[in-house]
This record gives sequence, C-alpha cells and structure tokens, in this order.
Amino acid sequence: MTITRKQAENIATVLSEGLPYIQKFYNKIIVVKYGGAAMTESFLKESFARDIALMKLVGMKPVIVHGGGPQIGEELKKAGVTSEFINGQRITTKSTMKVVKKVLGKNINKEIIKLLKKHGGHGLSFNHEEFKIIKASKKHNKDVDLGYVGNVSRILKTPLQKALSSDYIPVIAPIGLNRKNDFLNINADSVAGKVAQALRAEKLILLTDVKGIGDSKNDLISKISLRKGQKLLKEDFIKGGMTPKLSAALEAKKNGVKSSHIIDGRVPHAVLLEVLTEEGVGTMIS
Ligand SMILES: Nc1ncnc2c1ncn2[C@@H]1O[C@H](COP(=O)(O)OP(=O)(O)OP(=O)(O)O)[C@@H](O)[C@H]1O
Ligand SMILES: [Mg+2]
Repeated sequence: MTITRKQAENIATVLSEGLPYIQKFYNKIIVVKYGGAAMTESFLKESFARDIALMKLVGMKPVIVHGGGPQIGEELKKAGVTSEFINGQRITTKSTMKVVKKVLGKNINKEIIKLLKKHGGHGLSFNHEEFKIIKASKKHNKDVDLGYVGNVSRILKTPLQKALSSDYIPVIAPIGLNRKNDFLNINADSVAGKVAQALRAEKLILLTDVKGIGDSKNDLISKISLRKGQKLLKEDFIKGGMTPKLSAALEAKKNGVKSSHIIDGRVPHAVLLEVLTEEGVGTMIS
C-alpha cells in the first residue's frame, strides 16, 4: 500500500498524540466486553481484533469477554428451538444450553482467537472446557424459572493472571459452573464486570450496538456519576440488555475499577478511540 506524504504525516501525528495514553495504560489491565454489532459485521470484527493486538503490543493488558446473543438465536432457529426472554435474559433449557455451549464456548471463542492471531495477537481460550474460572449459582426469578441461567459467584483470577504474565490475551466465554457441576448461561456484561473487579482492572469497556445509554428521548448520556447511574437503573427507559450492562458498569466502578464505559461498537476502532484519545464514544461512568 502506498500512501501520500500528507497521509504519512497524519499517521505520525496520530501515533505521537497517542503517546501519553500508551504511557498511562502501560501494563494496565483493560477488560473489554465484545458483543453486539461489532461481533456481527466482518470489517468491525477485523478492526476490533487489530485494536486489541495493537493495545497488547504497546504494553497494555487487554482481556476479552464475549457475548453472542444474535448468534445463539440463529443457531436455535436452525435447530427449530424457540426461546423466550425475561428482562433481557434468555430462558435456558437443557437443549438451549447445549447450543449456548457450542456457540459461545466453541464457535465464537475460537473465531476471536483466530482473528487475534491473524493480527499478531496470542489469545488464550477461557471457555467452559478450559480453566473453568467462572463459579456461578443459579439465577432466581420470582415469576418464571429461567432454567440454566446463572449469576457469577466468584472469578478464579490466578489462571487469568498467569495468562497475562505470559503475554496472552485471555478470551472468556460467559459460561459458569455451579456446585452441582451444571453449566450456566450468564450475561456477558456481568461476567466482564466481575472479571474487571477480580483483576482490579484500570478500565472496563462494554461494546454495544447503540451509541451508548440513551435517555427518555433516546439522546446519548455521555457522562454519569455513580450516584446518578444508580438512579438511572430504576428508570423504565433502561431496559432489556442495557440493564445488566449499566449494572455491571456501575458495580465495577464502585468496586475499584478506575473507569467504566459503554461504547458504540458500530464505530470502527471504537476501543482504540476510547483508550487512545480524549474523545469518548459512548457513556462514561465517572
Ligand atoms: N436506555 C437505553 N439506551 C440504550 N439502549 C437501550 C436502552 N434501553 C434498552 N436498550 C437496548 O439495549 C440493547 C443493548 O443490549 P443487548 O444485550 O441487546 O446487546 P449487547 O449486550 O451489546 O450484545 P450481546 O448481548 O449480544 O453481547 C440496545 O440495542 C437497546 O435496544
Ligand atoms: Mg447483552
């Protein structure tokens, strides 16, 4: 690829402007929840993997937790299984769980590792078969039995820390294991929040398929305090998948993660924009 002198100058300027941020986050753990639009469009998948590989190369310690709602939906449709949602959480029967394990634990997890590799990053799979770092308990709902759906009770951080100190990028599928050795389907935002807390991460970044948190008129809320965020959770315009996302962002921030962000994964290089520039691309909990 040949570029013009002007383009070359732009690249040099951008790289140079990124220096203070690279220094700020050097050796720091940044947990990224990957999901929504960024995980379905192929050019966004590529730019996500490149961003993570670059972050790693300049000395940051990215950790990926991935979702996969739409992909699970598709696979269930193919298998002729219908599933229902209660408050953004899929009712998970035994046969649904089988599909969840295949889609999250195998297909998506492996695809991310492959994409990272293509861009020079070394991913390490933390799925339901390897390491089993997510200890969980069944989630109870007062009206309906959600089935094999869990809450995180504990994250085993030692395997993650070992992976990070061996220069791997952990890639975590949100499947937990309870005391009875049942696999449980867990919301990936909640897992990302707990992982960020367990690792005392510098940043938690939750990618999504909208511009960030919208208010009652659906205008972007670009910055909220912890206290305002807690109030917001009770508003009825925060619903579906945004509820666990906001809860995870608030809980992480409250428990020592320096900053939490809900960002627009439809924007190419959303993660780099968040990490390497002053401009945010979504909602920040400050
Ligand atoms: N106040 C709100 N502001 C923004 N989005 C909202 C709000 N309330 C509900 N939502 C919904 O939350 C959705 C994002 O959560 P969702 O769980 O669907 O996606 P994701 O978590 O990004 O991806 P995945 O669950 O596949 O990992 C948005 O697409 C939007 O429809
Ligand atoms: Mg979600």
